[in-house]
Amino acid sequence: MKISKKLQSWVDECAALCKPDNVHWCDGSEEEYNKLADMLIKKGSIKKLNESKRPNSYYAVSDPSDVARVEDRTFICSKQKEDAGPTNNWMDPAEMKKKLNEIYDGCMKGRTMYVIPYSMGPLGSKIAHIGIEVTDSAYVVMNMKIMTRIGEKVLDVLGDGEFVPCLHSVGYPLTEGKKDVAWPCNPEKYIVHFPEERSIWSYGSGYGGNALLGKKCFALRIASSMAREEGWMAEHMLIVGITSPEGVKKYIAAAFPSACGKTNLAMLTPTIPGWKVETVGDDIAWMKFGEDGRLYAINPEYGFFGVAPGTSMDTNKNAMLSMEKNSIFTNVGLTDDGDVWWEGMTKEKPAHLIDWHGKDWTPDSATPSSHPNSRFTAPASQCPVIDPDWENPKGVPISAILFGGRRASIVPLVNEAFSWQHGTFLGSSVSSEMTAAAVGKLGQLRHDPFAMLPFCGYNMGDYFNHWLNIGKKAEASKLPKIFYVNWFRKDENGKFIWPGYGDNIRVLKWVFERLAGKDNYEDRAYGRIPSKNAIDVSGLGLSESDVEKLFSISKEEGIEEVNELREYYKMFGDKLPNELNDELNKLEERYKKM
Ligand code: GTP
Ligand code: SPV
Ligand code: MN
Repeated sequence: MKISKKLQSWVDECAALCKPDNVHWCDGSEEEYNKLADMLIKKGSIKKLNESKRPNSYYAVSDPSDVARVEDRTFICSKQKEDAGPTNNWMDPAEMKKKLNEIYDGCMKGRTMYVIPYSMGPLGSKIAHIGIEVTDSAYVVMNMKIMTRIGEKVLDVLGDGEFVPCLHSVGYPLTEGKKDVAWPCNPEKYIVHFPEERSIWSYGSGYGGNALLGKKCFALRIASSMAREEGWMAEHMLIVGITSPEGVKKYIAAAFPSACGKTNLAMLTPTIPGWKVETVGDDIAWMKFGEDGRLYAINPEYGFFGVAPGTSMDTNKNAMLSMEKNSIFTNVGLTDDGDVWWEGMTKEKPAHLIDWHGKDWTPDSATPSSHPNSRFTAPASQCPVIDPDWENPKGVPISAILFGGRRASIVPLVNEAFSWQHGTFLGSSVSSEMTAAAVGKLGQLRHDPFAMLPFCGYNMGDYFNHWLNIGKKAEASKLPKIFYVNWFRKDENGKFIWPGYGDNIRVLKWVFERLAGKDNYEDRAYGRIPSKNAIDVSGLGLSESDVEKLFSISKEEGIEEVNELREYYKMFGDKLPNELNDELNKLEERYKKM
C-alpha cells in the first residue's frame, strides 16, 4: 500500500491519542469484508440473513439510544462564530479540540482502529474528493464499503495529495475488565466539523450519518463549505434522469428534507405509459458548471442508505430490487426464515418475527417491528434503473431543480419559480414536518431551507447568497428552472390528497413540458401552476375540488405565511441577502392584490 508521509503521520497521531490494540488499513477487498462480517457475527453484533432469501446480506440492530442523527450534538467549529451562523451549533475550535482530545484519549482501548481510504465521487475523477475515515467500528467499515468507493485503489489515486481526515469512535473503550456489547456507543456524542481545516471528529454514535462520515459530514457539511469557496454546490438532493415518450431525456435534481421522498422519487416507477425514470443518486448532489455553462451534477456516493419502513414493491420496487443481495439492514424486523421485514413492506404481516428490540413480535404487538428510521444499505450499482451515466465523471446536465417538504397545508402540489432569484427565495422558505431521521420532535413543523438545515457547513445567510451568486454567474437560459413540490398535503380528515410515489410522474410530466416551453400554466400569487387539466389526473379518483385543494392558498393564509417568513428571516440579520427580502415584499404585494 502506498501511504504518504502526511497520511501516515495523521494515522499515527490518531493511534497515539485513541490507543487502540491494533491498526488495520482497509484494502477494500471482499475477503476483508467477509472477515469483518464473520468477526461481528461471532461477537453477536450482526447476523447473516438466509443465503437463499437474501444472499451475502446482514442484519444489525443498534442500541435503542443510537438510532438517528443527533442534530443538537452536531457542531460547526469555524474560527468565527458568525461563520457557523444562526442555524448551527458552534464552539471555539481550540476549546473544542481541547475537549475532544480529552474524550478521545484512550477511547479505542481493547479495539482495532480501522483506516478507511474512501473516495466521494468516481475514483480519479476531477470532481471527486478523498477522505480517510479512522474508526473503531467494523460495522462502519462494512457500510462504508457499500456507501463509498474504498480501499487500496483510493490510496493509489491519493498519492501525497489532500484528504479530509475523519476520526470516528463509538466511544466505548474496553478498559480493564469491561466487556464489549453488541452495539457499542456512548451517551455523550459529538459530531464536529472544522471547516477551515476541513476535518471531522465524530464520537459516541455508530449510526448512519453520525458515523458514515463520507455522507453528511463530508459530502454535505465540509463539501458545502468547500463549494462556497470554490464556486460549486454541495446539496441534499437526489438526481434523476427522465425520458419522455418522445425519447427526450432530461435530468432533474430535487432537495427534500430527510425522509421526505428523495429515494422514492429518484427511482420512481411511472404510472403513466411511455415515461422512463433512471437513477443517478438518491441523497447528495455535487454540482459544477460545465464548459457549456450549464450545471452538471454527480452523485458522490456509491450506495443507498435508505429509509426502510414504507418501502415495498408497490411504493418503490427499484429500491426493493436494489437490496435483494449484498446489503445490510439495521433496526428492522427479523423474520422466522432469516429474512427482513418492516411496516409497509407487504400487505400481509408476518405471523411472527423478532423486532428491532430483539423481542417476539406479532401483528397484535403494540409497537412496530422496525424503528421508523431503520435503514437498508445497498449498492447503487444494483438498482435496476441505475442511469448509464451515474458514474460519468463529468456529471449529468441538470435542467430542473425541485424543492419540497412535508406540508399538510398551504404549500401547493407544484409551482414554478418566476426566476432563479424567486427560486432561491422558495428554497429559503422551505418548511417541513420533522421526521425520525433525526432525534427530535417528530411531526413538528420547522424551517428547513433548501433541505440543508442540518447539513450546511457555514452561515445559512451566506449560503442563500451563494445560491444567488450561482444564478448571477450563469446565463439565465442555461440555468435549471426551479420548482417547489409538496406530495404531503392533507384533507380535512387528515388523509393525503395526492397519491404520491409513482403518480408523481404526473407532476414531473408537467415540469418536463414547462422545460420545453409549453404554455400550460397560470400565474398565482405564490408562483406558476399548471393550468386547468394540464396535470393528467385520470384514473386517480380525484374530484375537481380535490385538485383545486392541492393548489389553493387563500389571501389570509398567504399573508400569514409572509409574516411568518419575515419573522424567520430576522435570525439571519445582515447576512440575509436583500434579494430575498425583495422577493418576500413582492410576494406580499401579490397576495394583497388578490
Ligand atoms: P433521507 O434518506 O433521510 O434523506 O430521506 P429521503 O428523502 O430519501 O426519504 P425517502 O424517499 O426514503 O422517504 C421517506 C418516507 O417518505 C417514507 O416513509 C415514504 O413512504 C414516504 N414517501 C416517499 N414518497 C412519498 C410520496 O410521494 N407520498 C407520500 N405520501 N409519502 C411518500
Ligand atoms: C438523512 O437524515 O438525511 C439521511 C440519513 O440521509 S443519515 O445518513 O443518517 O443522515
Ligand atoms: Mn439525507
